[in-house]
Amino acid sequence: NFLMKKQTLVSGVRPTGQLHIGNYLGAIKQFVELQNDHECFFAVVDLHALTTPFDPKTLRQDTLEITADYIAAGLDPKKATIFLQSHVPQHAELAWILNCITPLGELYRMTQFKDKSEQHKDSINAGLLNYPILMAADILMYKPTVVPVGEDQVQHVELTRVIARKFNNKFGETFPEPKPILNKTLRVKSLTNPEKKMSKTGDEALLMADEPAEIHRKLKKAVTATDGSGKSAGVENLILLLREFGTKEQIKNFENALDDNTIRFSELKEVLAEQIANYFAPFREKRKALLANPDELAAILADGAERARAKATETLSEVKAKIGLL
Ligand code: TRP
Repeated sequence: NFLMKKQTLVSGVRPTGQLHIGNYLGAIKQFVELQNDHECFFAVVDLHALTTPFDPKTLRQDTLEITADYIAAGLDPKKATIFLQSHVPQHAELAWILNCITPLGELYRMTQFKDKSEQHKDSINAGLLNYPILMAADILMYKPTVVPVGEDQVQHVELTRVIARKFNNKFGETFPEPKPILNKTLRVKSLTNPEKKMSKTGDEALLMADEPAEIHRKLKKAVTATDGSGKSAGVENLILLLREFGTKEQIKNFENALDDNTIRFSELKEVLAEQIANYFAPFREKRKALLANPDELAAILADGAERARAKATETLSEVKAKIGLL
Protein backbone atom coordinates (compact mmCIF):
# COMPACT_ATOMS: atom_id res chain seq x y z
CA ASN A 1 0.00 0.00 0.00
CA PHE A 2 1.55 3.27 -1.12
CA LEU A 3 0.04 5.14 1.81
CA MET A 4 1.81 2.93 4.30
CA LYS A 5 5.04 4.11 5.83
CA LYS A 6 7.89 1.62 5.61
CA GLN A 7 8.27 -0.45 8.75
CA THR A 8 11.41 0.15 10.75
CA LEU A 9 13.76 -2.73 11.39
CA VAL A 10 16.76 -2.94 13.71
CA SER A 11 19.34 -5.67 13.78
CA GLY A 12 22.75 -6.18 15.26
CA VAL A 13 25.66 -8.48 14.74
CA ARG A 14 28.53 -9.21 17.08
CA PRO A 15 31.98 -8.80 15.52
CA THR A 16 33.18 -12.35 16.01
CA GLY A 17 35.25 -14.14 13.42
CA GLN A 18 34.31 -15.04 9.89
CA LEU A 19 30.88 -15.78 8.54
CA HIS A 20 30.07 -19.20 7.11
CA ILE A 21 27.48 -20.20 4.54
CA GLY A 22 25.09 -21.27 7.31
CA ASN A 23 25.10 -17.66 8.55
CA TYR A 24 24.54 -16.53 5.00
CA LEU A 25 21.60 -18.81 4.18
CA GLY A 26 19.99 -18.48 7.61
CA ALA A 27 20.22 -14.74 8.13
CA ILE A 28 22.23 -12.48 5.84
CA LYS A 29 20.39 -13.45 2.67
CA GLN A 30 17.01 -12.52 4.19
CA PHE A 31 18.44 -9.35 5.58
CA VAL A 32 19.60 -8.24 2.15
CA GLU A 33 16.01 -8.69 0.95
CA LEU A 34 14.42 -6.97 3.95
CA GLN A 35 16.39 -3.77 3.37
CA ASN A 36 14.38 -3.15 0.20
CA ASP A 37 11.05 -2.58 1.91
CA HIS A 38 12.08 -1.61 5.45
CA GLU A 39 13.79 1.36 6.99
CA CYS A 40 16.81 -0.52 8.34
CA PHE A 41 19.25 0.22 11.15
CA PHE A 42 22.05 -2.24 11.24
CA ALA A 43 24.59 -2.10 14.07
CA VAL A 44 27.87 -3.91 14.44
CA VAL A 45 27.67 -4.27 18.21
CA ASP A 46 31.26 -3.74 19.25
CA LEU A 47 30.28 -2.81 22.82
CA HIS A 48 28.58 -6.16 23.23
CA ALA A 49 31.85 -7.79 22.18
CA LEU A 50 33.42 -6.50 25.41
CA THR A 51 31.26 -8.75 27.59
CA THR A 52 33.36 -11.85 26.94
CA PRO A 53 37.17 -12.09 26.91
CA PHE A 54 38.58 -10.17 23.94
CA ASP A 55 41.81 -8.91 22.48
CA PRO A 56 41.88 -5.28 21.25
CA LYS A 57 43.75 -6.08 18.03
CA THR A 58 41.41 -8.91 17.12
CA LEU A 59 38.37 -6.83 18.03
CA ARG A 60 39.45 -4.05 15.70
CA GLN A 61 40.10 -6.47 12.83
CA ASP A 62 36.90 -8.47 13.42
CA THR A 63 34.88 -5.25 13.44
CA LEU A 64 36.30 -4.16 10.10
CA GLU A 65 35.86 -7.60 8.60
CA ILE A 66 32.28 -8.15 9.66
CA THR A 67 31.35 -4.73 8.30
CA ALA A 68 33.03 -5.57 4.99
CA ASP A 69 31.32 -8.99 5.02
CA TYR A 70 27.83 -7.59 5.33
CA ILE A 71 28.38 -4.90 2.73
CA ALA A 72 30.03 -7.34 0.32
CA ALA A 73 27.09 -9.73 0.84
CA GLY A 74 24.70 -7.06 -0.37
CA LEU A 75 23.80 -4.86 2.57
CA ASP A 76 23.68 -1.47 0.88
CA PRO A 77 24.83 1.62 2.82
CA LYS A 78 22.55 3.71 0.61
CA LYS A 79 19.48 1.73 1.64
CA ALA A 80 20.33 0.72 5.20
CA THR A 81 21.96 2.70 7.99
CA ILE A 82 25.07 0.67 8.81
CA PHE A 83 27.07 1.77 11.83
CA LEU A 84 29.17 0.77 14.81
CA GLN A 85 27.36 0.72 18.13
CA SER A 86 30.27 2.54 19.82
CA HIS A 87 29.98 5.42 17.33
CA VAL A 88 26.54 6.28 18.68
CA PRO A 89 27.11 6.91 22.39
CA GLN A 90 23.39 7.35 22.95
CA HIS A 91 23.11 3.55 23.00
CA ALA A 92 25.12 3.32 26.21
CA GLU A 93 23.25 6.26 27.66
CA LEU A 94 19.81 4.80 26.96
CA ALA A 95 21.05 1.46 28.26
CA TRP A 96 21.83 3.08 31.61
CA ILE A 97 18.35 4.53 31.87
CA LEU A 98 16.77 1.18 30.96
CA ASN A 99 19.04 -0.50 33.53
CA CYS A 100 17.23 1.44 36.17
CA ILE A 101 13.79 0.13 35.26
CA THR A 102 14.75 -3.51 34.61
CA PRO A 103 14.26 -5.97 37.47
CA LEU A 104 17.45 -7.89 38.25
CA GLY A 105 15.45 -11.13 38.29
CA GLU A 106 14.69 -10.79 34.57
CA LEU A 107 18.41 -10.68 33.77
CA TYR A 108 19.33 -13.74 35.85
CA ARG A 109 16.64 -15.70 33.97
CA MET A 110 18.23 -15.16 30.55
CA THR A 111 19.45 -18.44 29.03
CA GLN A 112 22.35 -16.76 27.27
CA PHE A 113 23.58 -15.29 30.57
CA LYS A 114 23.37 -18.71 32.19
CA ASP A 115 25.24 -20.37 29.31
CA LYS A 116 27.92 -17.73 29.02
CA SER A 117 28.56 -17.39 32.73
CA GLU A 118 29.00 -21.14 32.72
CA GLN A 119 31.49 -20.90 29.81
CA HIS A 120 33.45 -18.01 31.33
CA LYS A 121 33.25 -19.05 34.97
CA ASP A 122 36.23 -17.02 36.16
CA SER A 123 35.36 -13.80 34.35
CA ILE A 124 31.67 -13.10 34.84
CA ASN A 125 31.45 -9.34 34.58
CA ALA A 126 28.45 -7.08 35.10
CA GLY A 127 28.39 -6.38 31.36
CA LEU A 128 27.52 -10.00 30.68
CA LEU A 129 24.47 -9.73 32.92
CA ASN A 130 23.44 -6.36 31.50
CA TYR A 131 24.00 -7.43 27.90
CA PRO A 132 20.25 -7.72 27.11
CA ILE A 133 19.62 -4.18 28.34
CA LEU A 134 22.18 -2.75 25.95
CA MET A 135 20.50 -4.81 23.26
CA ALA A 136 17.11 -3.39 24.30
CA ALA A 137 18.62 0.10 23.97
CA ASP A 138 20.00 -0.76 20.50
CA ILE A 139 16.51 -1.76 19.48
CA LEU A 140 14.21 0.73 21.22
CA MET A 141 16.37 3.69 20.16
CA TYR A 142 14.99 3.45 16.61
CA LYS A 143 11.41 2.49 17.58
CA PRO A 144 11.27 -0.44 15.18
CA THR A 145 8.35 -2.79 14.64
CA VAL A 146 10.53 -5.76 13.70
CA VAL A 147 13.85 -7.26 14.78
CA PRO A 148 15.35 -10.14 12.79
CA VAL A 149 17.30 -12.48 15.08
CA GLY A 150 18.36 -16.08 15.52
CA GLU A 151 16.41 -18.35 17.83
CA ASP A 152 18.93 -17.82 20.62
CA GLN A 153 18.08 -14.10 20.73
CA VAL A 154 14.29 -14.31 20.87
CA GLN A 155 14.33 -14.25 24.66
CA HIS A 156 16.24 -10.96 24.54
CA VAL A 157 13.69 -9.43 22.19
CA GLU A 158 10.92 -10.59 24.54
CA LEU A 159 12.72 -8.85 27.38
CA THR A 160 12.99 -5.75 25.19
CA ARG A 161 9.20 -5.81 24.89
CA VAL A 162 8.86 -6.10 28.67
CA ILE A 163 11.18 -3.13 29.14
CA ALA A 164 9.28 -1.07 26.55
CA ARG A 165 6.00 -1.84 28.29
CA LYS A 166 7.42 -0.93 31.68
CA PHE A 167 8.76 2.36 30.37
CA ASN A 168 5.49 3.21 28.63
CA ASN A 169 3.43 2.42 31.74
CA LYS A 170 5.63 4.49 33.99
CA PHE A 171 6.39 7.47 31.78
CA GLY A 172 3.80 7.49 28.99
CA GLU A 173 3.59 5.86 25.56
CA THR A 174 7.08 6.09 24.05
CA PHE A 175 8.25 2.80 22.57
CA PRO A 176 6.29 0.48 20.25
CA GLU A 177 6.78 -3.16 21.22
CA PRO A 178 8.92 -4.72 18.47
CA LYS A 179 8.37 -8.26 17.23
CA PRO A 180 11.18 -10.71 16.51
CA ILE A 181 11.43 -12.06 12.95
CA LEU A 182 13.03 -15.44 13.21
CA ASN A 183 15.92 -16.21 10.88
CA LYS A 184 15.31 -19.06 8.52
CA THR A 185 15.71 -22.29 10.46
CA LEU A 186 17.79 -23.84 7.81
CA ARG A 187 20.10 -26.23 9.55
CA VAL A 188 23.38 -26.34 7.70
CA LYS A 189 25.46 -29.03 9.37
CA SER A 190 29.14 -29.40 10.06
CA LEU A 191 30.98 -31.00 7.13
CA THR A 192 33.15 -33.11 9.39
CA ASN A 193 30.53 -34.01 12.01
CA PRO A 194 27.13 -33.70 10.32
CA GLU A 195 25.27 -34.56 13.51
CA LYS A 196 25.92 -31.01 14.73
CA LYS A 197 25.34 -27.51 13.42
CA MET A 198 28.01 -25.88 11.24
CA SER A 199 30.09 -23.58 13.42
CA LYS A 200 32.98 -21.36 12.55
CA THR A 201 35.93 -23.58 13.28
CA GLY A 202 38.32 -25.59 11.14
CA ASP A 203 37.31 -27.77 8.23
CA GLU A 204 33.73 -28.22 9.34
CA ALA A 205 32.67 -24.85 7.97
CA LEU A 206 32.60 -23.35 4.50
CA LEU A 207 33.37 -19.70 5.08
CA MET A 208 31.79 -17.14 2.79
CA ALA A 209 35.27 -15.79 2.08
CA ASP A 210 36.90 -19.15 1.33
CA GLU A 211 38.81 -19.29 -1.95
CA PRO A 212 37.66 -21.89 -4.52
CA ALA A 213 40.58 -24.25 -3.78
CA GLU A 214 39.66 -24.17 -0.08
CA ILE A 215 36.00 -24.89 -0.84
CA HIS A 216 36.99 -27.87 -2.99
CA ARG A 217 39.38 -29.16 -0.33
CA LYS A 218 36.84 -28.92 2.50
CA LEU A 219 34.01 -30.46 0.51
CA LYS A 220 36.22 -33.30 -0.66
CA LYS A 221 36.73 -34.21 3.00
CA ALA A 222 33.07 -33.86 3.94
CA VAL A 223 31.68 -36.92 5.71
CA THR A 224 29.14 -38.90 3.66
CA ALA A 225 29.25 -42.26 5.45
CA THR A 226 25.89 -43.96 5.05
CA ASP A 227 24.07 -46.94 6.48
CA GLY A 228 23.98 -48.62 3.05
CA SER A 229 20.69 -47.02 1.98
CA GLY A 230 22.72 -44.16 0.53
CA LYS A 231 21.34 -41.69 3.08
CA SER A 232 22.82 -40.09 6.18
CA ALA A 233 23.07 -36.74 7.94
CA GLY A 234 26.17 -35.91 5.91
CA VAL A 235 24.47 -36.73 2.62
CA GLU A 236 21.34 -34.78 3.62
CA ASN A 237 23.53 -31.81 4.34
CA LEU A 238 25.20 -31.90 0.92
CA ILE A 239 21.81 -32.24 -0.79
CA LEU A 240 20.52 -29.30 1.23
CA LEU A 241 23.45 -27.23 -0.01
CA LEU A 242 22.85 -28.43 -3.56
CA ARG A 243 19.22 -27.27 -3.33
CA GLU A 244 20.48 -23.81 -2.35
CA PHE A 245 23.35 -23.47 -4.80
CA GLY A 246 22.76 -25.98 -7.61
CA THR A 247 20.95 -25.50 -10.92
CA LYS A 248 17.50 -27.11 -11.36
CA GLU A 249 19.12 -29.71 -13.60
CA GLN A 250 21.82 -30.58 -11.07
CA ILE A 251 19.32 -30.84 -8.23
CA LYS A 252 17.08 -33.16 -10.24
CA ASN A 253 19.93 -35.39 -11.38
CA PHE A 254 21.48 -35.87 -7.97
CA GLU A 255 18.13 -36.37 -6.24
CA ASN A 256 17.29 -39.09 -8.75
CA ALA A 257 20.69 -40.68 -8.32
CA LEU A 258 20.21 -40.60 -4.56
CA ASP A 259 16.86 -42.36 -4.87
CA ASP A 260 18.31 -45.06 -7.16
CA ASN A 261 21.31 -45.42 -4.90
CA THR A 262 23.58 -44.68 -7.88
CA ILE A 263 24.81 -41.37 -6.53
CA ARG A 264 28.52 -40.66 -6.72
CA PHE A 265 29.48 -38.46 -3.83
CA SER A 266 32.80 -37.38 -5.32
CA GLU A 267 30.85 -36.01 -8.27
CA LEU A 268 28.27 -34.31 -6.05
CA LYS A 269 31.04 -32.65 -4.05
CA GLU A 270 32.78 -31.50 -7.20
CA VAL A 271 29.61 -29.89 -8.57
CA LEU A 272 28.74 -28.36 -5.23
CA ALA A 273 32.21 -26.85 -4.78
CA GLU A 274 32.04 -25.37 -8.26
CA GLN A 275 28.60 -23.82 -7.66
CA ILE A 276 29.43 -22.42 -4.23
CA ALA A 277 32.76 -21.00 -5.39
CA ASN A 278 31.00 -19.24 -8.27
CA TYR A 279 28.11 -18.01 -6.16
CA PHE A 280 30.43 -16.23 -3.75
CA ALA A 281 32.89 -14.93 -6.36
CA PRO A 282 31.41 -11.39 -6.42
CA PHE A 283 31.30 -11.45 -2.60
CA ARG A 284 34.99 -12.35 -2.35
CA GLU A 285 35.96 -9.63 -4.77
CA LYS A 286 33.95 -6.90 -3.07
CA ARG A 287 35.17 -7.97 0.37
CA LYS A 288 38.82 -7.81 -0.71
CA ALA A 289 38.29 -4.41 -2.29
CA LEU A 290 36.68 -3.04 0.88
CA LEU A 291 39.36 -4.42 3.19
CA ALA A 292 42.08 -3.06 0.91
CA ASN A 293 40.54 0.38 1.19
CA PRO A 294 39.95 1.14 4.89
CA ASP A 295 39.22 4.80 4.09
CA GLU A 296 36.14 3.85 2.13
CA LEU A 297 34.94 1.58 4.93
CA ALA A 298 35.57 4.34 7.46
CA ALA A 299 33.58 6.80 5.35
CA ILE A 300 30.63 4.40 5.12
CA LEU A 301 30.69 3.93 8.90
CA ALA A 302 30.99 7.66 9.56
CA ASP A 303 27.99 8.33 7.36
CA GLY A 304 25.98 5.54 9.01
CA ALA A 305 26.83 6.80 12.48
CA GLU A 306 25.73 10.28 11.57
CA ARG A 307 22.36 9.06 10.35
CA ALA A 308 21.90 6.80 13.39
CA ARG A 309 22.85 9.63 15.78
CA ALA A 310 20.19 11.89 14.27
CA LYS A 311 17.43 9.45 15.28
CA ALA A 312 19.17 8.46 18.53
CA THR A 313 19.44 12.07 19.68
CA GLU A 314 15.74 12.54 19.08
CA THR A 315 14.74 9.44 21.05
CA LEU A 316 17.07 10.21 23.91
CA SER A 317 15.80 13.79 24.30
CA GLU A 318 12.26 12.47 24.43
CA VAL A 319 13.24 9.86 27.03
CA LYS A 320 15.16 12.32 29.17
CA ALA A 321 12.29 14.79 29.17
CA LYS A 322 9.80 12.07 30.08
CA ILE A 323 11.79 10.77 33.05
CA GLY A 324 12.48 14.22 34.44
CA LEU A 325 16.11 14.83 33.57
CA LEU A 326 16.56 18.55 33.06
N1 TRP B 1 22.67 -10.12 20.84
C1 TRP B 1 22.65 -10.27 19.41
C2 TRP B 1 23.40 -11.54 19.03
O1 TRP B 1 24.16 -12.04 19.79
C3 TRP B 1 23.30 -9.09 18.73
C4 TRP B 1 22.53 -7.83 18.93
C5 TRP B 1 22.90 -6.78 19.71
C6 TRP B 1 21.29 -7.49 18.34
N2 TRP B 1 21.99 -5.78 19.62
C7 TRP B 1 21.00 -6.18 18.79
C8 TRP B 1 20.42 -8.16 17.46
C9 TRP B 1 19.82 -5.54 18.40
C10 TRP B 1 19.26 -7.52 17.08
C11 TRP B 1 18.97 -6.21 17.55
O2 TRP B 1 23.24 -12.03 17.95
